[in-house]
Amino acid sequence: MRAAVYTRYGAPTVVQVEERELPVPKPHQLLIKVHASCLNSADVRLRSLRIPLGFGLISRLIFGIRAPRRPILGVDLAGTVVAVGDNVSRFTSGDAIIALTGMAMGAHAEYVCLDADGAIAHKPARLDFNQAAALVFGGTTALDFLRRGQLKAGETILINGAGGAVGCAALQLARHYGAQITAVCSADKRALVLSLGAHAVVDYRQQDFTHNGQRYDVIMDIHGNAPWAKARSALAPGGRLLAVCATLPQMLQALWLPLWRRERVIAGPCAERAEDLAELAALAEAGILVPVIDRSYSLAQIAEAHEYVDSGHKQGSVIIEISPNSLTG
Ligand SMILES: NC(=O)c1ccc[n+]([C@@H]2O[C@H](COP(=O)([O-])OP(=O)(O)OC[C@H]3O[C@@H](n4cnc5c(N)ncnc54)[C@H](OP(=O)(O)O)[C@@H]3O)[C@@H](O)[C@H]2O)c1
Repeated sequence: MRAAVYTRYGAPTVVQVEERELPVPKPHQLLIKVHASCLNSADVRLRSLRIPLGFGLISRLIFGIRAPRRPILGVDLAGTVVAVGDNVSRFTSGDAIIALTGMAMGAHAEYVCLDADGAIAHKPARLDFNQAAALVFGGTTALDFLRRGQLKAGETILINGAGGAVGCAALQLARHYGAQITAVCSADKRALVLSLGAHAVVDYRQQDFTHNGQRYDVIMDIHGNAPWAKARSALAPGGRLLAVCATLPQMLQALWLPLWRRERVIAGPCAERAEDLAELAALAEAGILVPVIDRSYSLAQIAEAHEYVDSGHKQGSVIIEISPNSLTG
């Protein structure tokens, strides 16, 4: 099979398409033909090892000290089950699915094996494989953080970094929950974020939202430049800061802050659950959650795609079309 492989950390050109052996599913696994995956912020972080402060050593210990231990990136996918292990009853061959591959990654390849009891759900029928893939990474992250932040109808939320994969999903979920939404993004994305549910927009190049006198029940800092020290002045009493891109010191602060403040900081990796994917699929089926796709690349163009995502200004999701014309194995 063809796969996008990286054997050292570095610039986009370290990722090359190579032939690899077809994986063989274990008794509890599925063999999945990948039709589409996204190139996410997580992939460029792991490729370049640009990791939030405090996580550099931990990341190298997990993902490889000198070189990547798992050479195929890709944390989300939409694909078709083409074989199932003997102990699997949840899915059958031919099922169209969406999935998170988690720490195993490996979705930037024609085939991948995943545990059948992992974060996998049936693909929403109304979406094609590209659209379905675009639901997964941003959607699960936004769903998990908004749930942990207990966003309620009528509350105010500010979403900092609203135009990316997580932001586009967070806007639509916050609209669904009945919140009053302020989006922080560049002027280029103003029309997009308004269409996804924002009631007000702050262009971060023109205005600092922590200095405009407004206060919010929830601040979702996706971009990572509004930690507690900065965002606290814009949080309403008892408000919650969802630190999606937190450094290690900020995560530690999240633990002790409740000892002396009513406000809370919610940080840490988001959960990867099959139920959340099923919930996202149902929301997409109902037309409540619409995937936002910036652009698509073929697997052969993977280095070009990394270069684009490296710019840090993508809009929604960037798709890697892996087996785009085939619906089944
Ligand atoms: N905790 C977790 O489990 C978890 C899970 C997923 C992602 N994350 C983290 O979340 C972050 C964002 O992920 P993503 O996938 O949504 O990224 P993304 O799709 O690459 O989008 C990043 C967005 O940030 C915007 N941006 C750039 N500079 C900005 C600034 N100064 N202020 C506000 N917005 C700015 C960009 O658009 P404009 O500049 O044009 O507005 C872009 O749309 C990443 O750092 C990732 O590591 C954490």
